[in-house]
Amino acid sequence: MTDQTPLVRIEGVSKHFGDTVALDDLTLDIARGEFVTFLGPSGCGKSTTLRILGGFERPTTGRVILDGQDVTTQPPEKRQVNMVFQDYALFPHMTVGQNISFGLELKGMDKASIKRRSDEIMSFLELDAFGDRYPAQLSGGQRQRVALARALAPDPALLLLDEPLGALDAKLRGQVQQELKSIQRRTNKTFFFVTHDQEEALTMSDRIVVMNKGRVEQDGTPEDLYFHPASRFVAEFIGETNLLSGEMRGHDGDAVVMDWFGQTLRGHAPAGAPPEGAPITASVRLEKLGFHATRPETGNAVQGKVVGKTFLGSRMAVDLMVEEAQGATLRAFVDAETGQTVGADPIWIGWDSDSMAVLRD
Ligand SMILES: Nc1ncnc2c1ncn2[C@@H]1O[C@H](COP(=O)(O)OP(=O)(O)OP(=O)(O)O)[C@@H](O)[C@H]1O
Ligand SMILES: [Mg+2]
Repeated sequence: MTDQTPLVRIEGVSKHFGDTVALDDLTLDIARGEFVTFLGPSGCGKSTTLRILGGFERPTTGRVILDGQDVTTQPPEKRQVNMVFQDYALFPHMTVGQNISFGLELKGMDKASIKRRSDEIMSFLELDAFGDRYPAQLSGGQRQRVALARALAPDPALLLLDEPLGALDAKLRGQVQQELKSIQRRTNKTFFFVTHDQEEALTMSDRIVVMNKGRVEQDGTPEDLYFHPASRFVAEFIGETNLLSGEMRGHDGDAVVMDWFGQTLRGHAPAGAPPEGAPITASVRLEKLGFHATRPETGNAVQGKVVGKTFLGSRMAVDLMVEEAQGATLRAFVDAETGQTVGADPIWIGWDSDSMAVLRD
């Protein structure tokens, strides 16, 4: 088996619960050492996928291949897979040390090896000082680390993390995000991480799989999904964006040309260009709009009037009305200084055709 074979292959997996289709023909490969995030709204099938990978649930159709082996019907304890849950699921009547050893005992490891491995993982996650404490005597972040230690102790090939940071407050959450990412790098383990928080997904992942109603909506790097969303769903789910409704006109070299309320604009179509005349929506990120005193040389330029400003500390959100486009509005992020200088006079707003994605509906 070469390292090129994916560690995980989900092959045409569907899962039905009565009339509910939780997963609809899901196909996905996960490479070794990857930090993959499954991102999507509540009920889109994230936990179901993890439960199928962990062996807690059987797919209705399709197969799960782990390390080249079909494990679709294999029980959880036979798989090189471990899971961390949102509520940690630590055993309250066991100490930290006992919680961590538990999985190793189940594997039938001898006492001396269990002690060695538990000590090793506790020292690795800086839990040495807490070995004799009970979960109730720990902070949320410490409990989180114990749950992670317990899951990593048996040295699984794949670690499944189902919203493991959901119970932490915002500040601690940011800290644990960094920790988790660094642990993943240092262990070079494959992490499959579930969240419905787009910011968390953008900061932590090598790759993000956006799910919608049991299907993959888009699969790519955080930068890909952010700057080149293929669908309206992805554009709106990840970050803030301007959505421009218009009509497909044709091509100009590599660019697609659209009409936006009488303005001719150029963009690119990550998911393929729609037919001429089709109603389309394009997405351009707020920070991609630039302000100019005279008509800029960018692919797109329109004149706008400032109708609102929101101070955000290091930057400012500026709302603009474009009279020539039937009063349609755009929102831009600019640095606070630029934001302060724009006022009553109309200004030119410019953006490149590369920064505007024409979306699949
Ligand atoms: N055991 C079950 N019996 C019946 N329906 C289920 C069962 N488990 C999940 N479902 C349904 O399958 C769909 C997907 O559920 P799943 O738990 O995978 O969603 P999720 O993406 O993890 O959502 P959340 O972000 O809320 O955790 C939902 O409509 C859910 O109601
Ligand atoms: Mg879930």
